[in-house]
Amino acid sequence: MLLSISSLSCAYDGLVALRGVSMHVAEGELVCVVGRNGAGKSTLLRAISGVQPVFGGSIEFDGADVTRLASPKRVKSGIVQVPEGRQVFPEMTVEDNLRLGGYRRRSEISERLEKAFEMFPVLRERRDSAAGSLSGGQQQMLVVGRALMSRPRLLMLDEPSMGLAPQMVAQIFKTIQLLKNSGTTILLVEQNAAGALALADRGYVLETGQIALAGAGRELLKDPRVRRAYLGN
Ligand SMILES: Nc1ncnc2c1ncn2[C@@H]1O[C@H](COP(=O)(O)OP(=O)(O)OP(=O)(O)O)[C@@H](O)[C@H]1O
Ligand SMILES: [Mg+2]
Repeated sequence: MLLSISSLSCAYDGLVALRGVSMHVAEGELVCVVGRNGAGKSTLLRAISGVQPVFGGSIEFDGADVTRLASPKRVKSGIVQVPEGRQVFPEMTVEDNLRLGGYRRRSEISERLEKAFEMFPVLRERRDSAAGSLSGGQQQMLVVGRALMSRPRLLMLDEPSMGLAPQMVAQIFKTIQLLKNSGTTILLVEQNAAGALALADRGYVLETGQIALAGAGRELLKDPRVRRAYLGN
């Protein structure tokens, strides 16, 4: 198993945000975690990245216990997170934003850059533009492209569709599908349960810090409890 989480718990100043979360991601899988506002989705990703302290449980990555490993070392081992909110360096060009993501792999930078441009042709067109001048959807592609520059073994995406126009949301989900098809292992966090579950091999429903349901993406999509609570029917 690439990622194995067991009984993970996290808190903010004594307020528990994750309680006893167990989940796993196999190599090549696309796994999604869906849940409402404040369910603990971002906390979970940050705990896996190592920027969020945990008070119980364990995280294993590629057979090694990384629960207490410093976050830069986790990045080095291939755990790469694209945080919420599309943080680009707005004054820098698109190309320079991408290059920043490849700083750990200097010898491969040109090759990785070419791959990113193949994946996102619009970024090639805009390579010399300031990143801040891109649309929201293009900025989302840029932060995903930047993460891919380091050739992650586990790519974690936090709400990539948030705040985008419907057409752009569809395009982002299509991109995620392409990434999966190219062999990237992905852990996707989304409030857009319908979109995420339709794509995912497997999904977890997170409710107030606990896994409420787990199963194949398409099964969860049909589950009446999921439909009632997250899909409005
Ligand atoms: N920095 C923080 N300090 C205190 N409490 C926090 C902090 N960040 C998150 N929380 C709380 O922890 C819980 C889980 O938050 P988290 O951000 O992980 O949820 P989420 O599922 O990502 O929500 P959203 O869909 O809004 O992004 C919430 O109750 C939230 O209020
Ligand atoms: Mg969040």
